[in-house]
Amino acid sequence: MTLDRSRALALAFLGRLFIELALAHFGQHAGLFTGALEAAQGKLEGFVLANFDAWHSLSAVKLDNPGSRASRAFYFMPSINAKPGPVLGIETSCDETGVAVYDRGRGLLAHALYSQVELHAEYGGVVPELASRDHVRKLLPLIRQTLAEAGMAVADLGGVAYTAGPGLVGALLVGAAAARSLAWALEIPAIGVHHMEGHLLAPMLEEDSPEPPFVALLVSGGHSMLIEVEAIGCYRLLGDTLDDAAGEAFDKTAKLMGLPYPGGPALARLAETAVPGQFRFTRPMTDRPGLDFSFSGLKTQVLLAWQRSDHGDAVRAAIARDFEEAIVETLVIKCRRAMQATGAKRLVIAGGVGANRRLRRQLAEAADKDGFKTYFPRLEFCTDNGAMIALAGSIRLHAGQCNDPQIKVFPRWDLQSLSALGTAPSNSGVETPWT
Ligand code: KG4
Ligand code: ZN
Repeated sequence: MTLDRSRALALAFLGRLFIELALAHFGQHAGLFTGALEAAQGKLEGFVLANFDAWHSLSAVKLDNPGSRASRAFYFMPSINAKPGPVLGIETSCDETGVAVYDRGRGLLAHALYSQVELHAEYGGVVPELASRDHVRKLLPLIRQTLAEAGMAVADLGGVAYTAGPGLVGALLVGAAAARSLAWALEIPAIGVHHMEGHLLAPMLEEDSPEPPFVALLVSGGHSMLIEVEAIGCYRLLGDTLDDAAGEAFDKTAKLMGLPYPGGPALARLAETAVPGQFRFTRPMTDRPGLDFSFSGLKTQVLLAWQRSDHGDAVRAAIARDFEEAIVETLVIKCRRAMQATGAKRLVIAGGVGANRRLRRQLAEAADKDGFKTYFPRLEFCTDNGAMIALAGSIRLHAGQCNDPQIKVFPRWDLQSLSALGTAPSNSGVETPWT
């Protein structure tokens, strides 16, 4: 059941857990409580209130006499006992609702994804408010669907992992509120996962899984990073983008040539149809030492080439082809440099741009030449998904980490601030900008 009351969104989970996303303190909105009880027709066992005004602190109320409208409420803090069992992963950082169940012994049991692409397509990019609202609509049905596919009930879960950042604040809050509430109701631990750590560990969902130490190229819509991974949680930034991320460059370039959102895959598809070499774009920052990236100048070169053209289909495809070649070659040059500088033998590629076939092919060729090995997630786990969050959360939960039962999200969050596995005391949680 989903309710949308004035200035409040409410969700119900399996008729047992009611999650209220209220805009003000419970005390100021007691009417919501009454409304929620009415809507659930008294079939409530627990009531969780998220107060978004106070940086997402959360209170839980358990009803002492479920079923009775006259129930008196009291606060409760369940004992959080890590128990072995599959971990539910929830991803809502941007425009994809992803849910998965991962079990340490049995691997990935089920995963489901709902993409909001059509919703945002008419605006040419992600509209944050629409994204949040759509996560609200889709998340609970997707959780139910994923659990059913895994042949499980919620009570079989051993933990819940959710993307706590970086990402769009409203979108993150939807996943965090649902995950925290579920964990509270089930009295199991929950952990907020760093979205980029999820991407970085995604190749570990494959049979041929990379063991640290390795170097990771993380290329998504928001990031272009080279990271030295000494151990899980122990990340050293080798190179970063000074302006646009690789995915962002794909998206903006596609948009300026009138390609539909999301631009990256559309531009890559178009590039397949053209002969290379009609335009010569720069390979930015490859003529000097260092591992940083910069893609905004390339975008300007494309803009000029496009403005001077006849705007025909052939020239659009030719520009797409040579633009893709420039990005891919730049990324390959920097990866080879990073492998040489660190002496690493394994290169992990992750994030949405990791789905680019030309990049995958050229990195595999470079690896053959230079004597290192590449690890890619399967295509569907390059872009945002719940499986990578379930996996990353499962690894941390099994290492004894979980966060305090509060809804906290981190729209900006430095990957290097994460704690290495085994170094954080049990239940202290991963380090965040707030701890
Ligand atoms: O990791 P992701 O799904 O979301 C973020 O965390 O940003 O990455 C999305 C980005 C978008 O910029 C999209 O255009 C790009 O990945 N992308 C691609 C391809 N598939 C997705 N870029 C180039 N070639 C592709 N095949
Ligand atoms: Zn992502």
